[in-house]
Amino acid sequence: MSAEQDSVFVRNFALVIAALLAITVLLIVIANALFGDENPERQALAEERAEANLAPPFAVRLTGDPAPAIASAEEPADGGVMEVRSGEQVTQAVCIACHQGNFLNAPGVGDVDGWNERIGKGWETLVDNVVNGYGNMPAQGGAATEEEIRAAIEWMIETETGLTIPET
Ligand code: HEC
Repeated sequence: MSAEQDSVFVRNFALVIAALLAITVLLIVIANALFGDENPERQALAEERAEANLAPPFAVRLTGDPAPAIASAEEPADGGVMEVRSGEQVTQAVCIACHQGNFLNAPGVGDVDGWNERIGKGWETLVDNVVNGYGNMPAQGGAATEEEIRAAIEWMIETETGLTIPET
């Protein structure tokens, strides 16, 4: 290889490197313009997702619906009385996601055999287990008040199966 060929090769090689560098810089500029963090909408979405990922388990809805209002949370805005939902309403809004079709072994609404095995624990234990969580059931205390959970248990078990839950 002559000295002339060498210098031609070096020049071309330098040109190729320079072109690649230019393309790299161009791609960085384009990527920043398209996906840069200055985009407030994207930022808001990222924050919203991060918050959803950090939410306590009882606030996460398996149904994809927004969590029902927490009856015990705050005074209603109009100063009126906060309405307590009926057992059926609470069941349909909160419990039905699992207590229908045996999800994770949850006895279904009106499942006489399934509930008969469990009600021997008595009211106090059952309410406690729903409020604080039990086995495969996450704590429900954030989605309904204790009063509403009692009403839901009464409806889901007593009303719908005809069974009677013992006091203790
Ligand atoms: C995320 C699913 C899920 C939701 C929502 C849910 N449950 Fe459950 N529940 C379960 C599962 C699963 C079990 C069975 C737990 C086990 O034995 O491991 C269960 C068990 C129970 C039991 C029996 C507890 C015991 O001590 O044997 C009661 C009572 C009950 N649920 C009531 C409710 C009520 C009332 C609601 C609504 C306020 C509700 N559940 C919401 C999944 C759920």
